[in-house]
Amino acid sequence: MTTDQHTAAAKAAEELRSRTGVDSYDVALVMGSGWGPAADALGAGGTEVPTSELTGFLPPAVEGHSGTARSVRSGESDLLVFLGRTHLYEGHGPQAVAHGVRTAAAAGASTIVLTNAAGSLNPALTVGSPVLVADHINLTGQSPLRGATFVDLTETYSARLRAIAKEADPSLAEGVYAAMRGPHFETPAEIRMLRAMGADLVGMSTVLEAIAAREAGASVMALSLVTNVAAGLSGRPLDHEEVLATGRDSAADVGPLLASVVERLAPR
Ligand code: 6GU
Repeated sequence: MTTDQHTAAAKAAEELRSRTGVDSYDVALVMGSGWGPAADALGAGGTEVPTSELTGFLPPAVEGHSGTARSVRSGESDLLVFLGRTHLYEGHGPQAVAHGVRTAAAAGASTIVLTNAAGSLNPALTVGSPVLVADHINLTGQSPLRGATFVDLTETYSARLRAIAKEADPSLAEGVYAAMRGPHFETPAEIRMLRAMGADLVGMSTVLEAIAAREAGASVMALSLVTNVAAGLSGRPLDHEEVLATGRDSAADVGPLLASVVERLAPR
């Protein structure tokens, strides 16, 4: 992280503090496409701040990604919930993508939960199911880190946090998430390549945020919601509207899971 990045994240965190009155957050969550209804299961109320009013955040580019930072008190924990995120395909670069997570870390969050909508490459991971990200393959060609920042990614997605998630739902599946830059979906040949590489899920987010969170020393959990089967595996073309609609339909179902996971993430 450059000093500019650090300064912008620290400034946004300070702005959040003064707007929400919360000195230090325990857990931050980034809610991906369609995860808004699940966010509501974490508890209502609290302060909402449009991210456009915070230093360093960009206006949301795609419908279904509203940019809001919500402060929620849940049990003994203060949660910072980002509704919407910046994607690499918007063209503002990996630093813009990582800014939310860096702000969360600067605001004290030592646990970061990243959620997303993903396509499935694995027949066992069916549409509508939540999947715990066990590892990723970063095919964006980008990193949020600059210079000689050799961050270890052996355990990007915390084994401790994954165990906690499985306590909440023992049937929760795990998978490897392949990140593409997008904004187009993949070709069937690319999906076969990703499958051969060991990917179970494909999407356009999460990995750069996870890397930035690891750089910041936070523990990371990521949850994908399977919104569709990847190209060439269903015999049907992919449609962004359909992906969003499936996300909305299923996200209410994963709300209780998310709430139960977050309840178990005691401040530490
Ligand atoms: Cl199939 N591909 C990508 N890149 N992102 C997705 C997706 C597929 N399904 C949901 N998001």
